[in-house]
Amino acid sequence: MPGSEFFGKEEIVEVIKVLDRGVLHRYAAEQMLGVSAVREFEKKFAEYMGSKYALGVMSGTAALKVAMAALGVGPGDEVITSCFTFVATPEAILDCGAIPVFVNIDETLNLDPEDLEKNITDRTKVVIAVHMTGVQAKIDEIKRITDKHGIYLIEDNAQACGASYKGRKLGTFGHFGTFSFDFYKPITTGEGGMVITDDEELFFRADCYHDHGHIHDMSVPRALEKRYSIGFNYRMSELQGALGLAQISKMDEVIRRHKENKRYLKERIAEIKGITFREIPDPEGEIASTLTVFLPSREKALAFKEGLSKRGIGVAHLASNRWHFVPNWEHMMEWKSLLAHRCPFECAFNDTLRKNYSPEKYARSTGILERALSLDISAKVEKERLDKIVSAFAEVAKEVL
Ligand SMILES: Cc1ncc(COP(=O)(O)O)c(C=O)c1O
Repeated sequence: MPGSEFFGKEEIVEVIKVLDRGVLHRYAAEQMLGVSAVREFEKKFAEYMGSKYALGVMSGTAALKVAMAALGVGPGDEVITSCFTFVATPEAILDCGAIPVFVNIDETLNLDPEDLEKNITDRTKVVIAVHMTGVQAKIDEIKRITDKHGIYLIEDNAQACGASYKGRKLGTFGHFGTFSFDFYKPITTGEGGMVITDDEELFFRADCYHDHGHIHDMSVPRALEKRYSIGFNYRMSELQGALGLAQISKMDEVIRRHKENKRYLKERIAEIKGITFREIPDPEGEIASTLTVFLPSREKALAFKEGLSKRGIGVAHLASNRWHFVPNWEHMMEWKSLLAHRCPFECAFNDTLRKNYSPEKYARSTGILERALSLDISAKVEKERLDKIVSAFAEVAKEVL
C-alpha cells in the first residue's frame, strides 16, 4: 500500500485547502471559485503521463466504463481482455452490455499477443490490455495487432500507474489509458481513477458521459449547460482531487523505493536454485510493486507458500486468487447478475460467454499461474525485514526444492 505509506502533511494541506473553500463538487468549485483540485490534479497527471487529456473519475472501474462508453461499446460487441485481471475489467465490459472474451496470458502474466490475435472476430470492438501487478504487457506487439485489425485499444493500468515501456508511459499507447487510485495503489485518493487519451473527440465524449451528459461550459450556469448524450455520474470529488494532487508529487519516490527494495530481494533470491522469475518486457520501466517467482510445480509452489507463511511471510498463489483469474469466478460462470432484466446477451451467454468461462480454455494460463507466487513490495520497509524475507526463502527452498 505504498501511496498510503506516504501520507503526510502535503495531503493534509491540500485537503484543508478544499475544506476551507467549502465546495466539494468539482464543477461547482470551478464555476463559483474559479479553482478546482480535480482540474489541477488532472493537469498534473496528464503532464506526468505525457498525454494530452486526463479526466478524473470516482474509481478505476468507472474509468473503464467511461472509456468504453466513449468508444461506443454496447450490446453485440465483444471486448477482448486477459483471463488474469481483476474482476472489475469484465464487470465494466458487461455493464456496457458487451461480451468479455478472455484470452490466455504468457510468462509476463499479461495478455499473450498470439492468443489475442486468434480470438479476434468481426464483433471485436476493443482490446483491453491489462498491465498486471506493476509489469508491462507486450504493449508494442498488442498495439501492432489492434492497429492491423482496426480495433480500439484500452490499457487498464490500474495496477501499474507510473510504469513505462521503452521510455513511454503505460496508458499512452492505447486510445485510452485507465487508472485506479484505490487504497492499494502506488498513489491513492482512497477511491478514485483517471482516464487519459490524446484524442480530443474521445476525451469530449468521455467528459460528457461521466457527468450526466453535460457539455461543460464555464460561461453559463451549470443548470443551463447543453446535453451531449445520456450519461451517468462518475465524477471525482474535490477531496479526492486534493489527495491526488499531494500524492502525484510522490509517485517517483514510491517507484524509486520499490525498485531499490525489489532489487535487493531479487538479487539474493536469484541465487536459490529452482526459483525462476516472471518475464518483464522492460525491467527499467516496471514499478516493482511485486516480485513474482516461479516454482517447478503447483505442489512445490503451495508447499513453498506454506513454508513462507510459517515464517511470517505472506505471498499470493496466483492461480488460487479468487478475484483475479477467470476459472475462479463461479458467479460469472453461473451468470449471477442482478441486472438480468437488461441483459441483452442472456442467450449469447449460453454459447459465447459460457465457452469463455470454461476452465479448459485457460489450461495454459493455469499452468503458468499455479507455479507462481507473488510477494508485495513495500516502499517503506526496514532492511531487517528484507533480510528476513531472503532467509525465509533460503530456508524454505532447502525444505521444498
Ligand atoms: C486490473 C484492475 N482493473 C481495474 C480495477 C478497478 O479499480 P478500482 O478499485 O479503483 O475500481 C482494479 C483494482 O484493483 C484492477 O486491479
